[in-house]
Amino acid sequence: MNTLVTLAPPLERAAPPFVENAPVEIRMARMSDVRALLDLINGYAAEAIMLPRTEFELAENIRDFTVAAVGGDVVGCAALHFYSPATAEVRSLAVAPQWKGHSVGRLLVESLEKEARNYGLASLFAFTYVPAFFSKLGFVEVERGELPLKAWKDCLRCPKFQCCDEIAMIKRL
Ligand SMILES: CC(C)(COP(=O)(O)OP(=O)(O)OC[C@H]1O[C@@H](n2cnc3c(N)ncnc32)[C@H](O)[C@@H]1OP(=O)(O)O)[C@@H](O)C(=O)NCCC(=O)NCCS
Repeated sequence: MNTLVTLAPPLERAAPPFVENAPVEIRMARMSDVRALLDLINGYAAEAIMLPRTEFELAENIRDFTVAAVGGDVVGCAALHFYSPATAEVRSLAVAPQWKGHSVGRLLVESLEKEARNYGLASLFAFTYVPAFFSKLGFVEVERGELPLKAWKDCLRCPKFQCCDEIAMIKRL
């Protein structure tokens, strides 16, 4: 399931290596992407924006991951993690800093939505610090209690467990 999309020129020119009109490939992740995924996710984890992931976790869950690649380089990723026959979480969503604001995040989430529909899911959810991004994609805020209990397992190892300020959002498919 590979998709090639040519991005429209951005309103404001970003710092290199953004390449105007560069074809962005949206595809399932491969084991050879693990190193790039670690760098991308753990770069944001160092800023406490995302949960850190280990090489083992990424390899174990590589089938969850979709990546955005430009010229062979991974510039974004997102994972679809199943919780029940009806719902899955969008997690580990990250776009390389120099590619932010060029629709890569949107393409990744739309690809996960398509995948979720193919699996017959009824909804997708996310815990996020960027609710405005998810709102743009049709997600709405919900009470955390409405989400599957199992979805909290990551919280136990989160440094913000006692003072969580992430917002729970859901999209009915
Ligand atoms: C959040 C993130 C994935 C967004 O990816 P992106 O490629 O920059 O987003 P897009 O360019 O696809 O934006 C899609 C829409 O959301 C909006 N948007 C994107 N980031 C936003 C933000 N931080 N605040 C408000 N709106 C935002 C865009 O303006 C765009 O709106 P439009 O369709 O009206 O033009 C990216 O900024 C990122 O990797 N952030 C760091 C890691 C992170 O926070 N991950 C989320 C964990 S849940």
